[in-house]
Amino acid sequence: MDYLTIALPKGRLLEPAVEMLNQAGVFTSDVSDDTRRLVFDDPDRRSRVILVKATDVPTYVQYGSADLGICGKDVIDESRKDVCELLDLKMGRCRFVVAVPASSHVTDVSGLGFNSRVATKYPYVARNYFASLGVQVEIVTLNGSLELAPAVGLADAIVDITETGRTLRDNGLKVIADMWTSTARLIANRVSYRARRSDITEAVQRLSEVMAGQ
Ligand code: PRP
Repeated sequence: MDYLTIALPKGRLLEPAVEMLNQAGVFTSDVSDDTRRLVFDDPDRRSRVILVKATDVPTYVQYGSADLGICGKDVIDESRKDVCELLDLKMGRCRFVVAVPASSHVTDVSGLGFNSRVATKYPYVARNYFASLGVQVEIVTLNGSLELAPAVGLADAIVDITETGRTLRDNGLKVIADMWTSTARLIANRVSYRARRSDITEAVQRLSEVMAGQ
């Protein structure tokens, strides 16, 4: 039988994700994003971890290059990939927020209008959010360093995730709306979920036990 392949995101979610897989005995080898290595095997468990950019995890899983993946709900919502969401891992908790410069007179989302520009890495999520409130704004898609956009006049507001709040604080931004909370999820490829049901069900079971014990 092939290895059970798990796509993990490089970055801040990697360490807790590996720790959880280790504790569950789903993948028991070390993984590090300090090296250029992208594939890590655990021959005893017949499982394999591949390291990918966080936003690419759902893509690897949808196309079946990975049977399972771990990534934030924010990434899943924005990617709109066709994957099965199996488990809320209750880690990597962060909030989706709308923020403006601390000096801005705008105190809530209704203060933004059709001539307001909102910078974000999450255009789909942001567009839906503003549409649901009936607020017309122009969405400007960026790939990072969003906090800079209001400071240089590119945008009036940003939609981003925040964990500690430090990035917002350090860049003189204030939150005007808390959209929702995102946590890490275990996702599966739809075909793998049928073809490798017992392996995947066992992994879900073991991960659930780890969470219950925490
Ligand atoms: C996110 C987000 C902020 C930062 C907020 O970026 O876009 O930049 O984290 O975190 P804080 O509230 O703890 O300061 P992330 O590190 O996920 O990725 P990126 O900056 O590489 O896009």
